[in-house]
Amino acid sequence: MNILVTAGPTREPIDPVRFLSNRSSGKMGYELAAAFAHAGHSVMLISGPTALDVPDGVDFLPAETAAEMHEAVARHIGRMDIAVFAAAVADYTPATIAPEKIKKSAATFTLELVKTPDILGSARTPFGFTGTLVGFAAETENLEANARDKLGRKGCDLIIANDVSKPGIGFDSNQNEVSLVYPRHTEALPLASKHDLAHQLVQAILELHISQRL
Ligand code: PMT
Repeated sequence: MNILVTAGPTREPIDPVRFLSNRSSGKMGYELAAAFAHAGHSVMLISGPTALDVPDGVDFLPAETAAEMHEAVARHIGRMDIAVFAAAVADYTPATIAPEKIKKSAATFTLELVKTPDILGSARTPFGFTGTLVGFAAETENLEANARDKLGRKGCDLIIANDVSKPGIGFDSNQNEVSLVYPRHTEALPLASKHDLAHQLVQAILELHISQRL
């Protein structure tokens, strides 16, 4: 099957030397891409900047900003059977990019931000994706309720929810603890390495995909 995985952070430029970003290392998404490839599938990994090596047997497309990731996903999602969005995409980007390095002159500095495109939220409409759609939810409160809200709003078949306020899991950690939020039930998985968890998640996603096509 053809699988698309997004991973890593995006970087939203402020001026030629500065950007807005977040603590995503890319590990969760890269482990998922590797696990799908290991299971014999054709994987395209679309990733923001990370320090990781591209997993063996995975096609790779770099995307620096949310806009670039949006464009890359729009170009490739049409031929995918399954799409998994593990990237931590910036929700806002500077309204303008200063052409020169911003000087430290005033005592305060205000940056105007505008919303980035919601890539996962575009998958069904306008991209027209009809395959199995899996999003992540990075939450610090009301994990299941917020994840369930994203499941409905973004037209997903499954949301993988992680509580990113818990130390030792989520952003830039080698471990994660997630809940699988399906339309009719929720399943909590125990704490595991991102490597082991990715194999469990791939199993769950493939089972979901097959059950939807019976
Ligand atoms: O990269 P690691 O260090 O291994 O950390 C893993 C992780 C914590 C980044 C990962 O497990 C995770 O939770 N990824 C989603 C992070 C996130 O931005 O969640 P969100 O709740 O803000 O977004 C919800 C969903 O919409 C996500 O699938 C996200 O990829 C997607 N999204 C969000 C905003 C946007 N503009 N476009 C999107 O596609």
